[in-house]
Amino acid sequence: MTHQSLPDIESLSYVDFMSELAEINRPPGGRDSIRALIQSTYLNKDSLALDVGCNTGYCAFEISMTAKCHVIGLDLSTNMIRNAIDLRDKYFAPYKERLHFLTGDALSLPFDTGTFDLVMSGGSTVFVPSIVEALIEYRRVTKDWGFVCDINFYYHSSPPPKLIAEMNALMDISIQPWEIDYWLDLYAQLDLEMYDLKLGKMQHVTRDKVLSYCERLVSQRNWPKSIHNLAVQRLIDIMSLFNENHRYLGYGVFIMRKRTFPEISLF
Ligand SMILES: C[S@@+](CC[C@H](N)C(=O)[O-])C[C@H]1O[C@@H](n2cnc3c(N)ncnc32)[C@H](O)[C@@H]1O
Repeated sequence: MTHQSLPDIESLSYVDFMSELAEINRPPGGRDSIRALIQSTYLNKDSLALDVGCNTGYCAFEISMTAKCHVIGLDLSTNMIRNAIDLRDKYFAPYKERLHFLTGDALSLPFDTGTFDLVMSGGSTVFVPSIVEALIEYRRVTKDWGFVCDINFYYHSSPPPKLIAEMNALMDISIQPWEIDYWLDLYAQLDLEMYDLKLGKMQHVTRDKVLSYCERLVSQRNWPKSIHNLAVQRLIDIMSLFNENHRYLGYGVFIMRKRTFPEISLF
C-alpha cells in the first residue's frame, strides 16, 4: 500500500469511512428478514426477483443462493453496483448467470409492467425522496399475484430525542422516531393486499462484542498502527451509538400481494 492510499480517518464522512472499511450493508433484521421473505413468497428456481436499492448486493445474494432464483439488483449508486458486481465475481462466480446488477432509480424502474414475481427493498425505500411513489413503482413492475416486500426499521419504544439528534448528525440524515403505524398507514394507501408481516426487535449487544467486532473489521485493512487505532476508535463510537439505538428499534418485513380483484372478508 502506498502512502497516498492511506485514508485520513478523521476527515472522512460517515459513508466514506464505512466504505473504506468495506462493511457489507445488510437489511433491517439481516438474514432473518430474508428467510421470512423467501418463506412467505414461495420463491423457487423459476422465480424472478428485483432487489431495489441493493447496495453491495447482500439481499440479492441471499435470495438467489437460498431460493436458487434469478435476481436483479438495482441501485442509484454506480459505485455500489460496481462493488456488488465485484463481490458476485469473487464469491458467486458459479451463479453469475442468475445474478445481475444495474444502476437505476427506484422512482423510474427500467422494466415493463408485470415483470417480477417479487420486488423487494431491504431498508432502501426510506432513502427515496417519495416513498409512496417508489412503492407504486414497485407494484407496477410486479406480476399479478406477485409480491412486494418492503423491509423497514421502526421504533417499538420512544427513543430519547438526544439519541435521534446524534444519529442524524452522525449520518447526515433526518430520521424521525417513526412507529410501526407510520409504515402501515403508508401501505394502506396502495392497491396491495397485506399478506404477511414479520416483526422483530434489534439486539442490544455487550460492549465486549462491540469492541471485538470493531477490531476485527478494521484489522482486515492492514493499516499502520496509528491509522488502525484511529479507525478502531471511530468505529467504536459509531457502533456504540447504533447499539444504544437498538434498545428502541424494531424491524418489520412487510409482505404485500398484487391482487387482480379486491377481497372483501370479515373474519
Ligand atoms: C441502507 S442501503 C440499503 C441496504 C441494502 N438493501 C442491503 O441490504 O445491503 C440504501 C441504498 O439505497 C440506495 N438508494 C437511495 N436512493 C435510491 C433510489 N432512488 N433508487 C435506487 N436506490 C437508491 C442507496 O444508494 C443505498 O445503496
